[in-house]
Amino acid sequence: MKFFIDTANLDQIAEAQGLGVLDGVTTNPSLMAKEGITGEQNIINHYKAICDIVDGHVSAEVISTDFKGMVEEGEKLAALNDQIVVKLPMIKDGVKACKYFSDKGIKTNVTLVFSPGQAILAAKAGATYVSPFIGRLDDISTDGLNLISEIRHIYDNYGFETEILAASVRHTMHVIDCAKIGADVMTGPLSSIEGLLKHPLTDIGLEKFLADYKKGNS
Ligand code: E4P
Repeated sequence: MKFFIDTANLDQIAEAQGLGVLDGVTTNPSLMAKEGITGEQNIINHYKAICDIVDGHVSAEVISTDFKGMVEEGEKLAALNDQIVVKLPMIKDGVKACKYFSDKGIKTNVTLVFSPGQAILAAKAGATYVSPFIGRLDDISTDGLNLISEIRHIYDNYGFETEILAASVRHTMHVIDCAKIGADVMTGPLSSIEGLLKHPLTDIGLEKFLADYKKGNS
């Protein structure tokens, strides 16, 4: 399973990249606003800065909601760097734009997906990635992980090549469960990745190894 980090914070992106396990980055307009990145040129510069830190794909979301606007914005974003994936909302014009970009060989990520039907449409439109939001489903007492299972089952039935990018991951157990189900990618906060490191027996074991070494070498 690929690991993407879901943030526009350059320090956190660099931290995850430094760990050596990062495969890409996802951003959205809320995450950009959280970092205080506003204005077209600053946003563009920020995407470039992210691409300079990571080796993998970087999802950059369009703001337009009509086909023409999405195409214009998406083409501009895609031209910034080969790593850029144009992120499109799961609305009618978003599906049309996805088909347009996939026909042109431009990578896409269809976002705000909450049902298997929406995931089928994204795959039919040739999306590179589909982003089902598991945390936001959990927030409204719906089983987000079940959506990942359903999409996995459907995509495997037909050999759809669209990668399932489990989004809105909130914690480490989401990461592990997505891996068990067979999500192709997960995108989550740095804490969800670093949480995988933790086990008290590792800490206790290391402490004992070091203490025993010290005894024998002092
Ligand atoms: C997806 O790519 C989104 O950026 C993101 O995962 C949404 O997560 P949230 O529900 O925690 O805001």
